[in-house]
Amino acid sequence: MKPQLADPYAELMQQAEGLFDGERDPWANSANIAALVWALLPDLNWAGFYFLRGGQLVVGPFQGRIACVRIPLGQGVCGTAAERRDTVIVPDVHQFPGHIVCDSASNSEIVVPLITQNLLLGVLDLDSPSFGRFGPGDALGLEALATRLAAACDWRLAGIDGFGTG
Ligand code: SME
Repeated sequence: MKPQLADPYAELMQQAEGLFDGERDPWANSANIAALVWALLPDLNWAGFYFLRGGQLVVGPFQGRIACVRIPLGQGVCGTAAERRDTVIVPDVHQFPGHIVCDSASNSEIVVPLITQNLLLGVLDLDSPSFGRFGPGDALGLEALATRLAAACDWRLAGIDGFGTG
């Protein structure tokens, strides 16, 4: 059972700060953030990252069922959010043209871009088995988390397009 928190995003940010303390590795931090989101937010069937590598979104650390590995920019909800560099909330994924089915249990989705120094790193993607699971409060909370994660890592270590290898 997940905890029922009055303000899960406040708890999420507080615990994220603890994880980032003294650690700037992108894989370590994004893996722990995926696990934290999974642990604290109710009603999810997938939570994790896609990173921009070799011109495509490539799956990164996540919780949930095995996912599609590569998503071209502009395709699916993830590729759309990445191309727009803006959060996309889809109340019913079956109505979203080009939605990419990874887990047939998904009925709604939110995708938040990860951006640092005006460069797109990738996206944070959450799926839910409930229709209309995500709203403006989730967008605000997850955007704050994405901004914090983007600032908390040394992305030169991650092989992301536009970043040197260190
Ligand atoms: N549904 C996403 C693909 C990723 S999975 O949901 C994990 C999309 O349409 O981009």
